[in-house]
Amino acid sequence: MKPILEKLHSDHINFSELLRFLEHQQHLLEECKLSDLAAMYDAVRYMKEYPDFVHHPLEDIVFRYFMENYGQQHKSIEGLLHEHEGMPALTERLLETLQNAQAGLPQDREELCEMLEEYISVQRKHMDEEEAHVYPVLNSSLSPADWQEIDHDLARVEDPLFGEKVKQSYASLFQQIMNH
Ligand SMILES: [Fe+2]
Ligand SMILES: [Fe+2]
Repeated sequence: MKPILEKLHSDHINFSELLRFLEHQQHLLEECKLSDLAAMYDAVRYMKEYPDFVHHPLEDIVFRYFMENYGQQHKSIEGLLHEHEGMPALTERLLETLQNAQAGLPQDREELCEMLEEYISVQRKHMDEEEAHVYPVLNSSLSPADWQEIDHDLARVEDPLFGEKVKQSYASLFQQIMNH
């Protein structure tokens, strides 16, 4: 696998870990047990800061390069590009709801649970589609010269949660995920 795809793939493994954590918190909330709203907020804040702002735009560059140069009307890719556009709004909505819940505003627990459940499911389906139908095609179709070209377009970015250096504001979430 090419380094860019490997990076995107390892991002997926990290996101899955985070979604598992979020799902666990959502189950606690659902069962009226003590859930950690602050940690959930941090987890979703991470979804905004890294997957929405970095991982998906990086995929956009690779996916678009593939479509432009190989001229294929790849159904999965078109759908995924479309989902990328809608994801920041979903994250923002969930973030706001969690913020309100944290601030102690009257919050419908069921609604928050449903929102979390749907968010987790959308994210998982999206990644599964990429892993099953897109990454293998990119891996076998794009030549080393293509990857070099793509590499040119990419700025080096750091993952604030799972990268080499954990950003200070994610230190507590990182510990919780590692101990989970
Ligand atoms: Fe994606
Ligand atoms: Fe992805």
